[in-house]
Amino acid sequence: MKIGILISGRGSNMTAIVDAVQNGKISGAEVVVVISDKSNAQGLEKAKMRGIETVVIPKNKRSREEHDAEIVSELKRRNVEIVCLAGYMRLLSGDFVSVFPNKIINIHPSLLPSFPGLDAQKQAFEYGVKITGCTVHFVDEDLDHGAIILQRSVEVLNEDTAEILSAKILEQEHTLYIEALQKIVMQKYEIVGRRVIFREN
Ligand code: GRF
Repeated sequence: MKIGILISGRGSNMTAIVDAVQNGKISGAEVVVVISDKSNAQGLEKAKMRGIETVVIPKNKRSREEHDAEIVSELKRRNVEIVCLAGYMRLLSGDFVSVFPNKIINIHPSLLPSFPGLDAQKQAFEYGVKITGCTVHFVDEDLDHGAIILQRSVEVLNEDTAEILSAKILEQEHTLYIEALQKIVMQKYEIVGRRVIFREN
């Protein structure tokens, strides 16, 4: 199963995925390319250090559709089957999503449907929730909206700050994303409405 990863920044979830794949934790999977829309994304160097091909595809003044079309063609050229968004800061066009139906996965740092969008950890912290967490979900055209694959909760403690909470969530993201990929790659599942139902193999 060939995986392509899209990033825009730090790339810590990307490195978690690459390391898990390279350590044989997701059997039969291979990360074939990391694509960034930002030439200065820190994650690019981390991918190169791990021997993964990197491609920078800036949006420039193009429409979202034109930008996405170039990304899709780079993914297709490498026979990518699963696309992982890992801190990729753009909404995908309908055209992009339709090329990889239920094969695009994202991680979001809250328990969706609570706190979609930017700064989800800070949104949750400021709202005063006692429990937040992270969600791995399939991607559709709407922001942080597709069917949920896995979620994990993180408690908000009195002494937490938004920064401490973000760090606690990020630590969980790195293992949750791997668990979700293991399931998607190695287990049978069906999607019924919005429900992703895993079956014993
Ligand atoms: C993570 O918090 C992820 O949940 C969100 O963007 C952040 C990316 O961080 N979608 P990194 O680039 O993976 O370190």
